[in-house]
Amino acid sequence: MAQALRQLASIDVSDPTLYQDDTWRPLFTQLRRDDPVHYCEASSYGPYWSVTRYDDIFTVELDHETYSSASELGGIQVADQPKGRERGSFIRMDPPRHTAQRRTVAPIVAPSNLVNLEALIRKRTSDVLDALPRRETFDWVERVSIDLTNMMLATLFDFPWEDRMKLTWWSDVAIANVHSPDAVVHSEDERFAELDRMGKYFRGLWDQRAERSPSFDLISMLAHSDATRNMDPREFVGTLALLIVGGNDTTRNSMSAGLMALVENPAQLELLRARHDLIPNLVSETIRYHTPVLHMRRTATRDTELAGRRIAKGDKVVMWYISGNRDEEKIERADAFIIDRNKPRQHLAFGAGIHRCVGDRLAEQQLRILWEEILARDLRFEMMGPPVRLYSNFIRGIRSLPVRILD
Ligand code: HEM
Repeated sequence: MAQALRQLASIDVSDPTLYQDDTWRPLFTQLRRDDPVHYCEASSYGPYWSVTRYDDIFTVELDHETYSSASELGGIQVADQPKGRERGSFIRMDPPRHTAQRRTVAPIVAPSNLVNLEALIRKRTSDVLDALPRRETFDWVERVSIDLTNMMLATLFDFPWEDRMKLTWWSDVAIANVHSPDAVVHSEDERFAELDRMGKYFRGLWDQRAERSPSFDLISMLAHSDATRNMDPREFVGTLALLIVGGNDTTRNSMSAGLMALVENPAQLELLRARHDLIPNLVSETIRYHTPVLHMRRTATRDTELAGRRIAKGDKVVMWYISGNRDEEKIERADAFIIDRNKPRQHLAFGAGIHRCVGDRLAEQQLRILWEEILARDLRFEMMGPPVRLYSNFIRGIRSLPVRILD
């Protein structure tokens, strides 16, 4: 018994190798069963609580007064923001500032604009699929997932087309774990310098658009809104990084994860082929099953209690979406990929409450169109090797995925 408790106490789900090696499942199954709100006393990121069950994650999400996202308290990742290198943005704010800034950018992903974007997304998706090599191995991540999400991002910012790959680069820089040997940057200083370059580039675009009358793109919206026009340089860089990462990595990884899940579950693929009306369900199931954002962190603003555990003011509280989305108490056969579930939208991958993903419908739209166009062409894929996964405890990333289109 004592040994079992010791073993439980030593569980540290913040270790990025768990996600790089894809070995996280048994640990979360154990935590949900034996210690659903779990205290890890010693980790590379200091002590923290793990919230692992669906309903408890919801409780934390909905109580933003007790569980703060504020940058000054440490922000939204299990790793505190590096001192002197903090990046402010509305995901790392509480109301009322959060409310005003979120409202500034929300129109770009409002239903009316999504209708406007539909034809453009379909055209680009068709072009990308038609240009893929046949009977030859290629990297799905590079040729499809990165390309499509990058073009979308360039459109949202009305970013100079010829420079658009910079957006993907900055996104990779912003989320890199600097301790990983294959990271794109290897120190916080290096990251800071790269993002400073990003800030300078965007400042040029910003100044031009601030002088012109408002246009319908993210830079113009931010430059013309009372809530954002006077951001200090750190908040300026932080807000751009939020919008770039938000719109980029998550959707990119869902595009790769969906293909993998269907190739690994041929019966589900056959079902989809027979029933194209299941595409929206497939999209939700992919996002749940993959869970592109592994966690969000909050900081307790007062002493409180969660599922019988006493949490002290100042404690780090980490909501593991990856675990909540596999909670069998809430989702039947949660470890299985099932595209005709009864309630496919019941998942935590977009979070909940005031910070719930603002771009959820756009992400779903991009994925829906991708699958509509794949099925319209009756493309069949074969995996030509294992995926290479990202070393990160925050983004569940797929760095490469070798595939081949079958005849
Ligand atoms: C499958 C794709 C996506 C996933 C899984 C995802 C996931 C998330 C999650 C988990 C959060 C935090 C929720 C919380 O704290 O409760 C979030 C917030 C956010 N996402 Fe997404 N996201 C996706 C796509 C997008 C897209 C396409 C955009 C922009 C075009 C976007 C922009 C944002 C922004 C700006 C926030 C901050 C919202 C706030 O603090 O109020 N995301 N997303």
